[in-house]
Amino acid sequence: MQSQLLRLTVLLTFILPNLQNLSAKELENPRAITVIGTGYVGLVLGSCLAEIGHQVTCCDVDSRKISSLERGEIPIYEEGLEDLVHNNTIKNRLFFTTSLKNAVLESDIIFITVGTPETLSGEANLDYVFSAAQLIGENLNRTKTVFVKSTVPMGTIIKIKEVIQAHNSANVPFSIGYAPEFLREGTSVSDFMHPDRVVIGVENTETSQLFTEIVQPILDDGAKILTTSIASAEMIKYASNSFLAVKISFINEIADFCEKIGADVEEVALGMGLDKRIGQSFLKPGPGYGGSCFPKDTLAFLKSADKNSIHLSIIDAAVQSNNTRCEKILTRMEKTLGTFQGKKIAVLGLAFKENTDDVRESPSLKIIDYLVQKKAYVKSYDPIATQNALKFYPELNIARTLYEAFEDCDAIIVATPWNLFTQIDWQIVKQICRGSFVFDTRNILCPMEVKNAGFSYMGIGKKPLME
Ligand code: UDX
Ligand code: UDX
Repeated sequence: MQSQLLRLTVLLTFILPNLQNLSAKELENPRAITVIGTGYVGLVLGSCLAEIGHQVTCCDVDSRKISSLERGEIPIYEEGLEDLVHNNTIKNRLFFTTSLKNAVLESDIIFITVGTPETLSGEANLDYVFSAAQLIGENLNRTKTVFVKSTVPMGTIIKIKEVIQAHNSANVPFSIGYAPEFLREGTSVSDFMHPDRVVIGVENTETSQLFTEIVQPILDDGAKILTTSIASAEMIKYASNSFLAVKISFINEIADFCEKIGADVEEVALGMGLDKRIGQSFLKPGPGYGGSCFPKDTLAFLKSADKNSIHLSIIDAAVQSNNTRCEKILTRMEKTLGTFQGKKIAVLGLAFKENTDDVRESPSLKIIDYLVQKKAYVKSYDPIATQNALKFYPELNIARTLYEAFEDCDAIIVATPWNLFTQIDWQIVKQICRGSFVFDTRNILCPMEVKNAGFSYMGIGKKPLME
């Protein structure tokens, strides 16, 4: 009897908790949380916090965004997000509002996830985080804790605290922490629910204890948490993003070298990545990194370092390398094709990466820009991101279907690594296009399959297969 009881205790204490999924747990102490800024980061944060049991109000100044969310329509494309929003809305754990004031008044915990876009000088535009801070200061009706999740340059959290205090006319006590986000678009829900690590920068232990309690189900599921100072947390975020950007620029330049000497960059990356100190990820060469983070965060980091009389020369070099990446690979293609002028070119993919509708700093749009300047005729297709691309480029020539993009084209460029493009029937394409040149800037196609259908195949960091 005794041993059975012991076994049951072990099961209940050590094994069962890990078998439950995150959302099934009932939180001991669910919190009322306000999220200010319901974009790619804020909406995922709010939905996931609701999923693990909290009562979350997501607010935003964009009334169209909020009203579409209230209708259950998700304004961004993100795997699994629609179900999360729907399930938690019907369970009355997730709400949406444009009344930021009421949302702040009614909760003790506020997350700031408004945008920190790049300014013309390359610095982060902090107007939105400061206006959120002012709103919080003006509505400190009782003690609150503010967690900033927007990516902000070193020293900003203290400035946010000063803005809150400057508008805290009743001098109500409040705490602030910095909880940098590491989610990747396209996998943001799973990245949030199963992160490698959670980082929290604080000024006191009460704030880190509160944050730990808020994300406890994620920690129970195996994520590590690092509690550190606010300055170190700010540095961890920018240093992590910048290191990943350096890694990408590094493999892109190695790919260029591979092309010169007939090495295969994919085998080189595999050989490198088998060293645990290097790792396999972020060693895929391509047209350069894009998105709303790496380009702006590396620039903001460089600016922030310059202000402290530090020159981050390696990151600077990676940024310079990335800035000329599209032109460099297209020049190589142009040499092979002869000229772009007057050519009809199909560009496959508009999003900055697969599985997202985000086109911010998309290499695809840089490729299209370059081709148009060279007087080529471009027709593009993207399974998801077209509407967003048209907001940036209304004059884009969009193919309604994938195969329409190939009609009478002289050359094809794979610009975004959508899985859909690996399913293309190149025999059919050969019948409807005019030319016979495929430039796979993401190395996602099977070169021999493309060549056997009658095309010349050019990848990145690989020997071309000329027809
Ligand atoms: C952005 C940045 O890209 C990221 O680096 C930062 O860490 C968080 O903010 P993202 O979610 O992609 O992430 O931003 P975006 O999609 O632009 O969403 C920001 C939201 O904040 C928008 O919906 C905008 O309407 C809203 N917003 C902006 C406010 O609610 N209040 C403001 O004052 C300004
Ligand atoms: C990035 C960071 O990964 C994430 O941790 C942070 O929170 C936000 O910024 P994201 O920009 O959403 O996430 O996407 P990511 O998968 O990092 O890709 C960024 C860019 O690098 C994309 O243009 C992608 O195509 C490119 N990339 C990525 C490569 O060119 N090669 C690679 O091996 C990986």
